Amino acid sequence: MPGSPDARRRNQNRNSPTWSFSGMDYGLSRARSHMVAKVVAAASFTAVCMFLLRQSSSTRSQDLFSKQKDGVKHVLVTGGAGFIGSHAALRLLQDGRRVTIVDNLSRGNLGAIETLQRLFPEPGRLQFVYADLGDSKAVHNLFAKNAIDAVMHFAAVAYVGESMAEPLRYYHNITANTLTVLKAMVSHEVKVLIYSSTCATYGEPEKMPITEVTPQVPINPYGKSKKMAEDIILDYVGTSDLAAMILRYFNVIGSDPEGRLGEAPRPELRHHGRISGACFDAALGVIPGLQVKGTDYDTKDGTCVRDYIHVTDLVDAHVKALDHALPGKVGIYNVGTGKGVSVKEFVEACKAATGANINITYLDRRPGDYAEVYSDPSKIYQELNWSAKHTDLKNSLSTAWKWRRANPDGYQ
Ligand SMILES: NC(=O)c1ccc[n+]([C@@H]2O[C@H](COP(=O)([O-])OP(=O)(O)OC[C@H]3O[C@@H](n4cnc5c(N)ncnc54)[C@H](O)[C@@H]3O)[C@@H](O)[C@H]2O)c1
Repeated sequence: MPGSPDARRRNQNRNSPTWSFSGMDYGLSRARSHMVAKVVAAASFTAVCMFLLRQSSSTRSQDLFSKQKDGVKHVLVTGGAGFIGSHAALRLLQDGRRVTIVDNLSRGNLGAIETLQRLFPEPGRLQFVYADLGDSKAVHNLFAKNAIDAVMHFAAVAYVGESMAEPLRYYHNITANTLTVLKAMVSHEVKVLIYSSTCATYGEPEKMPITEVTPQVPINPYGKSKKMAEDIILDYVGTSDLAAMILRYFNVIGSDPEGRLGEAPRPELRHHGRISGACFDAALGVIPGLQVKGTDYDTKDGTCVRDYIHVTDLVDAHVKALDHALPGKVGIYNVGTGKGVSVKEFVEACKAATGANINITYLDRRPGDYAEVYSDPSKIYQELNWSAKHTDLKNSLSTAWKWRRANPDGYQ
């Protein structure tokens, strides 16, 4: 059974290194002693076992997930313990859907799932399956045991810099695992897929804003592996009645406006940099300040320009995509605000949101960064009636900061 202690033990032996708590995902092997890694692994494993024991006590609840419920869509959320996936699960549950989360917790947070379970404790609402999507047997078991109607596939490693250093990991985790999920969907006749893609698939377009017909010429393994996954989905839809929606996100920020979930920090990935995390780390004094790399770009103030989309808006786009997905068709949509914000503007908004006097150092450009990236979101507005609502950056950062200040080390 997926998620059972036996299955986990088997997976651990057979599976890819993503399963290992030492080394790859927490980067402990180089940074700390082997002993610390073992203690962390044991503690994490024990926490997961305790959590799953609690879960497995409710066999009645599990039975519910194996049967269709009239009028209730059962959505499988891969990567639902992560930042965006957990917010998507929250919205789906609020909308009355049934949710199964699958995650290997390599970068996700059990605390996010526990929060969701506290909010939706009723039997048949939410279940968590601990599995690695690289384990095709576990993935097929998951589909065999659950009556799933649709898949939102978020699970992925997602750092451009890391993808340059570890390309094979990215092709495996993103491209190969998407193929595994898709094949399991086909075998078990699950016919709706909402896929998390990225503006990194466009590479460095010459013309802004980016539309869905802007040529896709990705320049790093992260963007390339996502584009390959998109191609697999497109080719399969051409031969089947799968309903697929591919959403290409721009830079995702923010957190649940009601403060129930947030973006947990990942100190071991800090050097790969996500700007909002770095800004909060600086405001908390965890890092000495912010480094702005490049002040001589051909942009409004010389710093890089990006399109920041709030996670709540992004999740809303997924819900609309789910509602509009049509058999045998694929919809491809940019999900952004359509507005470019410079790094300097972002830093000012961050200072205002946190009230902290953040120390800024201006440095030379970082190799590989492009000057300007922002979306044209008119297609998703016209076809799905979606547009971004949380466009006041300071407000968005204020909510996210509130969560982070209350949870400086993330979920406990
Ligand atoms: N955050 C952004 O700005 C952004 C932008 C564009 C696209 N995306 C895409 O959105 C999706 C979610 O990103 P996020 O920011 O929430 O990342 P995240 O790291 O917070 O969440 C990813 C989740 O997937 C899980 N996971 C990874 N590999 C897995 C595997 N093999 N088996 C099972 N679970 C696995 C992790 O444990 C984690 O919980 C990704 O597909 C990412 O490429 C994110």
